[in-house]
Amino acid sequence: MSSYILLTGGAGYIGSHTALCLLRAGYNVISFDNFSNSSAESLKRVEQLAGRTLLSITGDIRDQAALTAVFSQYKISAVVHFAGLKAVGESTELPLHYYDNNVSGTVTLCRVMRHFNVKKLVFSSSATVYGDAKEVPIKETSPRSATNPYGQSKLMIELILEDLVKAEPDWSIALLRYFNPVGADESGQIGEDPNGIPNNLMPFISQVAVGKRQQLSVFGNDYPTKDGTGVRDYIHVVDLANGHLKALQYLEQSKGIEAINLGTGVGYSVLDMVNAFSEVNQVAVPYQIAPRRPGDIAVCYAEPTKALTLLGWKTEKTLDDMVRDTWRWQKHNPNGYRS
Ligand code: NAD
Ligand code: WQD
Repeated sequence: MSSYILLTGGAGYIGSHTALCLLRAGYNVISFDNFSNSSAESLKRVEQLAGRTLLSITGDIRDQAALTAVFSQYKISAVVHFAGLKAVGESTELPLHYYDNNVSGTVTLCRVMRHFNVKKLVFSSSATVYGDAKEVPIKETSPRSATNPYGQSKLMIELILEDLVKAEPDWSIALLRYFNPVGADESGQIGEDPNGIPNNLMPFISQVAVGKRQQLSVFGNDYPTKDGTGVRDYIHVVDLANGHLKALQYLEQSKGIEAINLGTGVGYSVLDMVNAFSEVNQVAVPYQIAPRRPGDIAVCYAEPTKALTLLGWKTEKTLDDMVRDTWRWQKHNPNGYRS
């Protein structure tokens, strides 16, 4: 009986790129997704790009019976857990929905994994668990805090998984703390497909460039940074996907739980991103300076050496790759997967 890697939220932005990476590396993949923020089209395109099929199962991670059916039918060797809601603003309006989906969903998933003695888990955590870090670059040992229910849900899940490993040391868990994922597969066939008005910078820039939105609002130019705009560690989603492959390989030979930053270690400002996008792609990105966005921090970038030491992983893509690949996806799919 062949074994599978189960990707919860496999149809989403990071999940679809990771599915492609794993298929290309020879793994069998099952995606388990309720399509609350994605479409099945992403997985069809992943199959085309990989020249291999995957199993796409529609289901919710809070549905214990549905998960049990998957684990009963297929031999799962490890789980990569992407499924979750991720809009910071929405999480402050719908906290119960976020805690239920993200935290309860994870508890249900772990309960089923435990029942079937599947104890290898890669979890999509976030640099948001560092809150407003006092020191950059941010190390994994930096204190954790959260300022909104989304961030709180990620932090709570980290704590729950730590308690689980304390109680049952035979689990192997990687808490991958992503910085700011951007970009798309270089084919331009899969990419980020936000619903409605994008919350994040890169999809907003590309929708302005393609003419779907009039101009970008740059949230604040009075931060203590080189040009006054916020600085972040943007990481190409293909590098990020590869980090999951390395994490799975690492979990093959280690027990316990490790938190690992996935970032480049380099910070770029909002204006760096706007300028790179328009220069590399030769397209205009009109913008205006707007007030700061509540809850935003000035600077955030990773200390990425733990990932290199533990996983043998580091980023390879450049800023030019990030903006070029984002644009290729946007240009060819102006309405995302509905194009
Ligand atoms: P995404 O919304 O594109 O993907 C998440 C997927 O999970 C979607 O396909 C959605 O339909 C699915 N999903 C949500 N709730 C579910 C449920 N209850 N049951 C089954 N499926 C469900 O988001 P993404 O950008 O690919 O993010 C993946 C993970 O990485 C998320 O957990 C997110 O919090 C985390 N993360 C994302 C970022 C980012 O900026 N994109 C940064 C740090 C961490
Ligand atoms: C980046 C920079 C904005 C939009 C969020 C979550 C975080 C993580 C990644 C999941 C900031 C500026 C943005 C715009 C702008 N997600 N900006 N105009 O806020 O670093 O992180 O996504 O875990 O938890 O909080 O990312 O892309 O929203 O913003 O000027 O229209 O771009 O102020 O400086 P952020 P972002």
